[in-house]
Amino acid sequence: MDARTLPCPSSQEARDRAISPDGVIRLTLNHPPPVPEIFNAMVFKALNRILAESLPAELMATHRWMGTDHDRQQGARFVGRRLGAIPDRNRVILTHSTQAALQVLLPGIVGNGRPLAIERLSYSPVRSFAARYGISVVDVAIDGDGLNPEAFSEICQQKRPIALYLLSTYQNPTTVTMSLGRRQQIAEIARRYQVRLIEDDIYSLLAESPLPPISSLVPELSWYLLGTAKSFSTGLKLAFVVAPNVAEAARVFWPGLRATYWMASPMSAGLMTELISNGADLAILAAVKDELAARHRLVVSGLKDKPLASDPGCLHVWMPLKYVSSSEIAAALLEDGVQVAVSASYAGDGWTPPEAIRIGIGNPETRSVLEQAISRICRALP
Ligand SMILES: Cc1ncc(COP(=O)(O)O)c(C=O)c1O
Repeated sequence: MDARTLPCPSSQEARDRAISPDGVIRLTLNHPPPVPEIFNAMVFKALNRILAESLPAELMATHRWMGTDHDRQQGARFVGRRLGAIPDRNRVILTHSTQAALQVLLPGIVGNGRPLAIERLSYSPVRSFAARYGISVVDVAIDGDGLNPEAFSEICQQKRPIALYLLSTYQNPTTVTMSLGRRQQIAEIARRYQVRLIEDDIYSLLAESPLPPISSLVPELSWYLLGTAKSFSTGLKLAFVVAPNVAEAARVFWPGLRATYWMASPMSAGLMTELISNGADLAILAAVKDELAARHRLVVSGLKDKPLASDPGCLHVWMPLKYVSSSEIAAALLEDGVQVAVSASYAGDGWTPPEAIRIGIGNPETRSVLEQAISRICRALP
C-alpha cells in the first residue's frame, strides 16, 4: 500500500464504534444525521488528495491563522452561496467553531458598554458567554415569524443595544424561519439604530430553498456566521465568519490579541477547503438532507395528533405542551431512556417561557433508534 493512501474501514465497522455506551437516546443533541457511506467516501478521497500534496509535518507545523488565502477563497465561495454574492476573501475568517467565533465577537464588538440584544428564546450558550465577558443581555420578544420588529425597535430606543445575536432560519429552539418581509424589517431597524448583527446561520444549509440571510440585506453592520456542525459533522469543528469589511475582520480576529484558541485546526481547515474545492460538500449535504427528510416524516407520523412546529430541513422539532410541565415530561422520559430539552433552558432569568420540549432528530445512530424514542415520547405525553 502507498504510504499516503488511507485505508477505508467498512461503514459497518465505523457504525459499531459510534454506538452510545449508556443506552440513553439523546435527543437533546442537535447533530446532523449520520450518512456514513457518502461522508466516509468523500472525506477519504479529500484526505488522500491533501496528503498527496503536503506531508503531515508540513500541514500541522503551525497555526492556520485566519485560514490560508486558498482556504478563504474557498470559504468565500461556500458562504457566497448563502449571501447571494461571493464576498472579498479578506472578509472571511476560518474559525474552530461558531462557539469559538462568538467568544471572540462578544468581547471584540460588543464589549462592556451597551448591551447585546437576543431573541427571548435562543441558543443558550450565548447568554453564558455574555456573562463570562461581563456583557449585559436584553431580551427581544419573538412571534410566529421570528424576532418581533416592534419589540426590536422599542428595545433599540430604550436600551440602545450595540449588537443583536439572532437566527433567521430554523431558529433554535422554535424552528421558525423568518419570512423575507420580516428579514427586511429587521435589517431596516438595525440600520436605523446602527445595531450590529451577529447572524448565526448554522441551520440554513439544510433548508430546501433558504431565504437570503439578513446579513446580505445589511452587510455593513453584519457579522455572518456559517458553521459546519449542523450540516456536515459536529466534530469537524469549523465555522466561517464574514466580517462587515476587511479592516474589521483583521481588527477583531487579529492573532496579536494573543488569543489563538478560536483558530481552526489545520486538518479541519484543509479538509473543508478540499471538500468545497471539489464539490464534495454538496454531495454530503444532499445526503444529510435526504436522511433528515426521511427522519422528519417518521417523527411527524409518530407524533401525529400532537401540536408540533417542524420542517423537513430542521434538525429538531418543537412541541408546545398543555396541562403538563416540560420538566416533568423530560424527567419521566429520561427514566425511560430518552433525553429531550425543555423550553426554560433557552430563556434567560426573569421570564418563564411557555411549556415546550425540543426534540433533536439527527443524533440517533439509526432511524429505528429514533423511532423507539418517538414511541416512548408518545407514551409519556398525556
Ligand atoms: C444556534 C447554534 N449555533 C451554534 C451551535 C454550535 O456550533 P459550533 O459547534 O460550530 O460551535 C449550535 C449547536 O447546538 C447551535 O444550535
